[in-house]
Amino acid sequence: MKNQSITIFDTTLRDGEQCPGASMNLREKLEVARQLARLKVDVIEAGFPVISDGDFASVQAIAREIKGPRIAGLARCVAKDIDAAGAAVKPAGKRGRIHVFLATSRIHREFKLGKARDEIIRLAVEGVKRAKTHVDDVEFSPEDGSRTEPDFLIDVCQAVVAAGATTVNIPDTVGWAVPDQFGALIRQLHESVAEFKSGRAVISVHCHNDLGLAVANSLAAVRNGARQVECTVNGIGERAGNASLEELVMTLKTRGDFYGGLHCGVNTREIVKSSRLVSRMSGLVVQRSKAIVGENAFAHSSGIHQDGILKKRETYEIMDPRDVGWGGTELPLTKHSGRAAVAARLKHLGFKMTDGDVQAIFARFKEIGDKKKFVYDDDLTALVEGQITEVPETWTLEYFNVTSGNRAVPTATVRLRKAGAKEAVTDAGTGDGPEDATLKAVDRITKTKGILIDYALRAVSQGKDAMGEVTMKADFGGGDLVTGKGASTDIVEASARAYLNAVNRHLSESNGGEAPRKKPAQA
Ligand code: KIV
Ligand code: ZN
Repeated sequence: MKNQSITIFDTTLRDGEQCPGASMNLREKLEVARQLARLKVDVIEAGFPVISDGDFASVQAIAREIKGPRIAGLARCVAKDIDAAGAAVKPAGKRGRIHVFLATSRIHREFKLGKARDEIIRLAVEGVKRAKTHVDDVEFSPEDGSRTEPDFLIDVCQAVVAAGATTVNIPDTVGWAVPDQFGALIRQLHESVAEFKSGRAVISVHCHNDLGLAVANSLAAVRNGARQVECTVNGIGERAGNASLEELVMTLKTRGDFYGGLHCGVNTREIVKSSRLVSRMSGLVVQRSKAIVGENAFAHSSGIHQDGILKKRETYEIMDPRDVGWGGTELPLTKHSGRAAVAARLKHLGFKMTDGDVQAIFARFKEIGDKKKFVYDDDLTALVEGQITEVPETWTLEYFNVTSGNRAVPTATVRLRKAGAKEAVTDAGTGDGPEDATLKAVDRITKTKGILIDYALRAVSQGKDAMGEVTMKADFGGGDLVTGKGASTDIVEASARAYLNAVNRHLSESNGGEAPRKKPAQA
């Protein structure tokens, strides 16, 4: 029987993380990888090991800890990249994969690489062979594959498969493809390369969303012989992002009638949880109307729709929201809940916490519990997020006070303490609003000056007493965007915490901590 199983290759931690300002630290990546394992993706592309010590360490840690999915590391067709990827995925043993890539399109060959076709094939084959000395499972990507001349693309596929590649991934690197044409290209490759036809090697696709067609192109590809799709949670990634995992998976599931038996092993009930975790860890807010995982995805506002839903859900709902993990919240905690109850709920939510973490979260939980009646799972998750960003806390917030009003000059007094210092530092600032004044006071104390590039505030849970979660991106000079996150029932405090988180991240990076990561230029 024909193989109808689609391999879900998740690249949230690699391509997703390449999105400006989305970079995550080791602990954040591990939390995401644990959730991807619960989601039951088949492959986790954990990073690009040669790019920085931080990337190497996180791929290695994920390869060491995560059981179940295959763990892939990305490499250019360059010996040092491939060896770094081999070493990083080694702890995953037989589940380790090296993903090597080299551009093949004419425009990349002529203008970026300055190499002729035969030289490209030689480098690709060498790269695959070197990767084979580390692992059995080698994937090759002809970068800009969708814009590569089909006859040359077939030659490349044949050569890398003969050299030992077990998967050949056709990237639509710049999101140029359209579904009918891309489907036809995949069909042509499937028919022309014997190993694809026989199933000895797998065709994969990796579609970017520049024209909003990443999911449509990926689905056209699977209808034409691709058996692996590369995607990210919430569709995050370079520029307009990658194909969204949740949209792909739910289309295959919901429209099984059309996709005739094509299926994957993803546990769809973990989708919403994964989406929220990735949003929090990456600082990339999900738009309300985003399919499957946006706040409004299952919200019916028109009376006619609500009436229909009450009579028969399927009149206006093509998916059961519970199938993707909406609803079903546990009983909320209250200020009377003890440490053990909080620890048990954290465990239930899937967080791996040390006693020290639980203690710190419990202290914040008590503060929040005093201010609001119920502490929901989402509130608790927001507190965890603050705890695991693991940014060295050079400065901590001790106190702030703001005066504001439509006829007053907003003024903030802020007291911060520097790590290890006996004395706290207090200063004041004025601004065009209470947040602006607070952030200016923080700048005066920390002697930094961040320019806010992006700011988003969302209610973590429901009700007027809901916690507000602020995600912001600030530029501290040199164009390096730093993300900061903070949560509180008071939105000025949430903003102050988010900004301080960004300041601390910036200070740790400039003091030789985690270096800002950039994709290296092509070899
Ligand atoms: O978009 C792209 O071409 C990539 C490759 C590295 C697969 O991300
Ligand atoms: Zn990509």
